[in-house]
Amino acid sequence: MDAYTPTREDRFTFGLWTVGWQASDPFGQATRPPLDPVESVHRLAELGAYGVTFHDDDLLATEPDRDKAIARFKQALADTGLKVPMATTNLFSHPVFKDGGLTSNDRDIRRHALRKVRRNIDLAAELGASTYVVWGGREGAESDAAKDVVAALSRYKEGLDLLASYVVEQGYDIRFALEPKPNEPRGDILLPTIGHALAFIGQLERPERFGVNPEVGHEQMAGLNFVHGVAQALWQGKLFHIDLNGQHGPKFDQDLIFGHGDLTSAFFLVDLLENGGYEGPRHFDYKPLRTEDADDVWISAAANMRTYLILKEKSKAFRADPEVTAALAESRVPELTEPTLSPGESLDDLLRDNFDETLAAKRGYHFTRLNQLALEHLLGVRG
Ligand code: GCO
Ligand code: MN
Ligand code: MN
Repeated sequence: MDAYTPTREDRFTFGLWTVGWQASDPFGQATRPPLDPVESVHRLAELGAYGVTFHDDDLLATEPDRDKAIARFKQALADTGLKVPMATTNLFSHPVFKDGGLTSNDRDIRRHALRKVRRNIDLAAELGASTYVVWGGREGAESDAAKDVVAALSRYKEGLDLLASYVVEQGYDIRFALEPKPNEPRGDILLPTIGHALAFIGQLERPERFGVNPEVGHEQMAGLNFVHGVAQALWQGKLFHIDLNGQHGPKFDQDLIFGHGDLTSAFFLVDLLENGGYEGPRHFDYKPLRTEDADDVWISAAANMRTYLILKEKSKAFRADPEVTAALAESRVPELTEPTLSPGESLDDLLRDNFDETLAAKRGYHFTRLNQLALEHLLGVRG
């Protein structure tokens, strides 16, 4: 037990598919045995997690009888007190979804996909989940000839509108969170970034029921700044959920432990989540390295939470440091929160400003000093 030991109040959650990943990849077989979801629930509870999340199919990992699998899972939740704040559907593993689920060219398959989501939404509601994630891993294409993207977006909208209406009719307290990803497993995936997803939500029948579930690595795969994307989602009131992990720049989806990729970005992300009004669970969507054995899996799960808590403390120390406060002021960071016009002023009033362009252009912003202070907090040599 130390200051970085997680408790339920920290609201850390894990997908069953994360710790349960057997580590088969396109080039090699599984390196770990199947993990019973019941064991995952118990182990995560012991480590201090708040909850677990799941795809419909994850529950069937070691118990193919659906009713039995659900009963065993519920018992494990009751025994440990773990919550299920989020659930989702697997519309990507089965060969039937090779061209997608809600946007497959094959109409029968789209109908099948809708039935599959609907069924798991019922289970999600029964387990008390308030967020339903939609990650369209196979909703995409490898060839621009193969997909009528305009039609695909219409079918995506049709499917999501139907599901949102279903949730409303049933009286479920559930909101949907769309998870963007630029590629992998498809060559190109629809709704590839946070920005695409936010724009798409505006076209839905019930936009208030939809937000995003951005994942660290997915935006970084697209070469984008994850902290900026999350900030925009927060600004639009759309950060319904978040997938925390690590990534080293634009390459395949690494799903590393949180902080084991771009650590500076992880620091500023925690700083934003802790100070920016995000109140949802801190959900880890990572994969224990393929090199790791069954025991290492739990070391990796704990590492995600520990890193988050360390960064949270670093962020606090950064904010409390008087030198940082002074540096922020010298960099005019707080000035950006001031509206550009004063109350009652109009554009015409700007004409009366006594502005010296040459002088203003000479002023430095001193961002280097500010960034170095952040880095030194992160590196543990201050505070
Ligand atoms: C990925 C994705 C998935 C989804 C999850 C929810 O790493 O490509 O994040 O892990 O989040 O399957 O459907
Ligand atoms: Mn990922
Ligand atoms: Mn994810």
